[in-house]
Amino acid sequence: ATYTVVNQETCIACGACGASAPEIFDYNDEGIAFAILDDNLGITEVPHELEEDLKDALDGCPTDSIKVSSEPFTCKSVQAG
Ligand code: F3S
Repeated sequence: ATYTVVNQETCIACGACGASAPEIFDYNDEGIAFAILDDNLGITEVPHELEEDLKDALDGCPTDSIKVSSEPFTCKSVQAG
């Protein structure tokens, strides 16, 4: 299983993630990205067919703000990540 969340503290609103994975990432009013799947909680499994898009987004983010894990994220793990 794969889970993803955006670290909005480090996201610079570059917009690459939504271009790579429009079904996973969208942007708030400030252009800061969030995971659509569960409003950036990182607790909803990324559908298997979207994992390739997710990998592209992960590789493309200039600030390493996209976090990916095989386990659901908690508030703690996002901060540590
Ligand atoms: Fe932000 Fe990285 Fe996406 S900087 S807009 S999370 S590609």
